[in-house]
Amino acid sequence: MPSDYFEEDDFTGEVSGGVLKRIFELLRQHWVWVAGFIVTIIIVSILDAYFTFLSKEIIDQGILKGDVDALVRILIRYASMILVQSAGIFTFVFLAGVMGERVRYDMRRMLFNHLQTLSLSYYSRTPVGWIMSRVTNDTERVAELVTWGLIDSTWGVVNIATTLAFMFAINWQLALIVLAIIPVLIYAAVQFRKRILKQVRKVRKINSRITASYNENISGVRVVKALGREDGNLGEFKLETGEMYTAGYRAAWLSALFLPIVQIISAFAIGGIIWYSGAQVNFEGITIGGIQAFLSYMTFMMWPIQDLARVFAEMQRSLASAERIFHLVDTPPEIQNKPNAIDPGSIRGDITFEHVHFWYEDEMPVIKDLNLHVKPGETIALVGSTGGGKTTIVNLLCRFYEPRRGRILIGRNDYTDLSLEAIQSRIGVVLQTPHLFSGTIRENIAYGRLKATNEEIEKAAKLTGAHKFISHFEKGYDEPVGEGGVLLSVGQKQLISLARAVLSDPEVFIMDEATSSVDTITESLIQDGMEAIMQGRTSFIIAHRLSTIKRADRILVIEDGQITEMGSHAELLRLQGKYYKLYTQQFRAEREDAYNIFKEEPKVATETE
Ligand code: UTP
Ligand code: MG
Repeated sequence: MPSDYFEEDDFTGEVSGGVLKRIFELLRQHWVWVAGFIVTIIIVSILDAYFTFLSKEIIDQGILKGDVDALVRILIRYASMILVQSAGIFTFVFLAGVMGERVRYDMRRMLFNHLQTLSLSYYSRTPVGWIMSRVTNDTERVAELVTWGLIDSTWGVVNIATTLAFMFAINWQLALIVLAIIPVLIYAAVQFRKRILKQVRKVRKINSRITASYNENISGVRVVKALGREDGNLGEFKLETGEMYTAGYRAAWLSALFLPIVQIISAFAIGGIIWYSGAQVNFEGITIGGIQAFLSYMTFMMWPIQDLARVFAEMQRSLASAERIFHLVDTPPEIQNKPNAIDPGSIRGDITFEHVHFWYEDEMPVIKDLNLHVKPGETIALVGSTGGGKTTIVNLLCRFYEPRRGRILIGRNDYTDLSLEAIQSRIGVVLQTPHLFSGTIRENIAYGRLKATNEEIEKAAKLTGAHKFISHFEKGYDEPVGEGGVLLSVGQKQLISLARAVLSDPEVFIMDEATSSVDTITESLIQDGMEAIMQGRTSFIIAHRLSTIKRADRILVIEDGQITEMGSHAELLRLQGKYYKLYTQQFRAEREDAYNIFKEEPKVATETE
């Protein structure tokens, strides 16, 4: 694993203020929504506290004085305020939802955009699952933080503040008692929440390990039995489940303890209030309704305090998610355009490798001092043993990777001086395992040139020989190909990829020829398709088929990152080296196949005739 890669659980919880700041920066673009949200939440909280105040009025002005008119007046006020408050609640919950959605959308777009710029090397060292988890789980958590975290914390703070204000309005001495007790309550609540969350997370982690262990033991049951591993495995299993039980037990204990403790602390506060109002104030300066309202405020305040505690405890996890997202967004692409990168207009296919050295992450040399000059229009076939470096040469040519030493020239320019778009938009590549996107055949052919007309698409398909099988489909060009093209055969996918390459009209054509066995008819179709594309273009073909190789202008034998032989088919045969060996081996294999078929199945052959 590379050093810039960290797991979910490696996070220490040390969240820098920078992350919060960046989340706020994302929110700042939607400041109108944020402002609307805060204003409505303040209105709603004030009304909330006001209701309790009204209940004081009901007792003091209405019930105790026996004034029915006053009672009705207060009740009407109550009802109209409820309507206003309901509208307020709707507004802020809606606004928070919209903001969360905006942040999720912004983050996903930001990630997608950035992921597209990252170089292939990043993808080869970062597991796809890790990236997907950033895009889905982490954006989800941050969106949640923005929606519910924002609602709960703003609601909590504003509620506590307004309640306190009303308390001060009723009696400031009593309010001071409450004020003193609030930090203690919040602190206790946060501590509890954190500890509970830690245990819950531990349970979850062990649980996923146990699931994996179940999975392995059951699917590998034959090996387990054969090697007599039952007792050993059971021991490991017991250890894990024991640990999980302890964590679950602690979580249950803490959860059970939480409410009683909060109760006790607030009971002390309530006791203090009653004692103070009785003994010190002697119930002077405070009405009965006032004391009642005061105690209600006290109880009401428990909810926002708990909400705040929960948000604080859970916020760490969301901030950790945000930190991972920003970390990914901050990873610079290894291959980037230079500030003054140029687009020469055409790359003409005049390509030179000059003392090119290359290695992947592990620093094992893969390409060693490669020198090659390719003239425009030339067809180069690359052959050689597996792992020799053929695909790597193609990767370098497409500038998916850059040479570690030496340089590649396109025309007279070092290709790192050109813009990536200038190079990559003029190179057409058909990969060894062709990739189609879910959608229709038409969409897949037009992938590199979305503006292509139907006639152009069909022309490309006809040129590469794909038209015939496409027209056999019920929906023709509008036939869906399934995810990754699963509904098509390998040969069909290859033909569609060829049509796609033709349509994008590249100046340089590259094909990593498939070794997979397609039937001879498809093979000759592919062959014809390739020839149609290679016409007048510089082409690099990583060839496994003799027919392709023979027609190349030059054949390069790549072994161990170097060109060991170079020349035409005839020249290399005369050399009697590696190429000769490859050629004769393949030729012999084909001849033996034919011989065996003929020897084993002569009857079938005659019967079918
Ligand atoms: P290539 O992928 O260039 O070999 O890998 P090739 O000639 O095309 O092989 P075939 O014919 O398709 O099978 C060259 C070397 O680079 C390493 C491989 O392990 C191989 O030894 N390599 C390749 C990496 O280390 N990292 C990569 O991402 C790709
Ligand atoms: Mg390869």
